[in-house]
Amino acid sequence: MHNGIVILDFGSQYTQLIARRIREQNVFSAIVPFHTPADEIRGMTPRGLILSGGPSSVFEQGAPRCSPEVFRLGVPVLGLCYGLQLMAHELGGRVRPATRREYGRAQLDIVTAESALLAGLPPAIPVWNSHGDEVQELPQGFRTVGRTANAVAAIEDASRGLYALQFHPEVHHTPDGPRILRNFVFDICKACADWTPASFITETVKRVGERVGDGHAVCALSGGVDSSVAATLVDQAIGARLTCIFVDNGVLRKDEFKSILPLLREQLKLNVIGVEASARFLAKLAGVTDPEQKRRIIGNEFIRVFEEEARRRGPIEYLVQGTLYPDVIESVAVKGPSATIKSHHNVGGLPADMNLELIEPLRDLFKDEVRRVGRELGLPERILKRQPFPGPGLAIRILGEVTAERLEILREADAVLLDEIRREGLYDKVWQSFALLLPIRSVGVMGDQRTYAYTIAIRCVTSEDGMTADWAPLPHELLGRLSNRIVNEVRGVNRVVYDISSKPPSTIEWE
Ligand code: XMP
Repeated sequence: MHNGIVILDFGSQYTQLIARRIREQNVFSAIVPFHTPADEIRGMTPRGLILSGGPSSVFEQGAPRCSPEVFRLGVPVLGLCYGLQLMAHELGGRVRPATRREYGRAQLDIVTAESALLAGLPPAIPVWNSHGDEVQELPQGFRTVGRTANAVAAIEDASRGLYALQFHPEVHHTPDGPRILRNFVFDICKACADWTPASFITETVKRVGERVGDGHAVCALSGGVDSSVAATLVDQAIGARLTCIFVDNGVLRKDEFKSILPLLREQLKLNVIGVEASARFLAKLAGVTDPEQKRRIIGNEFIRVFEEEARRRGPIEYLVQGTLYPDVIESVAVKGPSATIKSHHNVGGLPADMNLELIEPLRDLFKDEVRRVGRELGLPERILKRQPFPGPGLAIRILGEVTAERLEILREADAVLLDEIRREGLYDKVWQSFALLLPIRSVGVMGDQRTYAYTIAIRCVTSEDGMTADWAPLPHELLGRLSNRIVNEVRGVNRVVYDISSKPPSTIEWE
């Protein structure tokens, strides 16, 4: 990394948001755990550091602390919320449980016009708070530059390059937050806005080319945005020495294998082979109902298929995957709640004894950044705008055992759903829309006959990055049409329900 901002994660729900806000300014930012040694941080040659918020109180035993050297690395440091309290506490100030805790909206009064961090702002701005402790006494050398009604809210020691805010500039509810972060990143840290899709492409293509040398790689291609962008980048680096493999694992959506393969070959001009392997995946899934076991089975089998293809076409040393940044950070999260909820995605599912080396060109990117890179690479909108589809596919959308009969039912119902969502012009507006098959049967009546058949659940959510999501308020007429069409067109279904749960507390997928 060069010229970026390193964020030390103390477990805030907003840590990723801080990284995104910095990157939106075309400045690279990376998240590392709070206990990362100072030397390692120095080795990243950052222009500045941000200490995230977090759920802890500095008084708690075992409260997360960074190395005290972090404050003496010679680059500016911005502490946010818990980061402010930690900075004050570590540098000799005093923090106490707040007399009036502050959650939600507040007004920040800026008490000096000379703070570089708060430069260009009106004297009072709305901010978003969420804290139970407050600074009682500033460390030596610090001064207060802003307050809310109840607390010291902005402090700094500009001579040492130390700044801290009690509120959250990274959230939407602090409308001047971007200006504050820009002040920090550009005026205080002197970072340059050089993190752009074009620069990312040039650097990645170069790096992958150097790493692979005259070696060979296979790429797991699914036709989704991530793997298509990853494959195109590697294709630019090593051309014909990349073989892309699209596996029919038996749990794809209706017609997916048939329709995506030509698109990848003709529009992306990639060297793609299709491997029809559904039977072996379904055989391995027989009798399995545990979601995590389904994930492991599919992840393992995938790699086995790849290794076989690699051997057959070999010698091949590398495997390209479209792993994204949230997957990487979720897997090392400090106390992040998502770390243990599901064994996630590409990162979790790999067998330990795999004999291909991984290339993950998108490891540093958020989903929206992948789309921007894809657009810069000239990928067709049809691929860029595809909704995310999980690697374990329909297997984790059939609750209970995955059988050929259940797959057929879900595929048909899901096809009806997508057709209606597209007609309504909603496909691009929602994050994901899909059908699920529930493992229960209930009684119905069709044409004077009693039925005893399956229930289809419909899930449709809006989201910025899949980390949180809201259920989409679909028009009632659309819901009515969906119910009608699914029950009429899909044999084996007599009931349709709509999932009105958000994430959290639910997750997007049901398994
Ligand atoms: P959850 O269900 O955790 O999903 O709210 C968040 C996002 O991740 C996708 N997802 C997966 N993707 N393998 C994947 O490749 C998986 O095992 C997996 N589980 C969930 C999900 O579709 C949503 O976009």
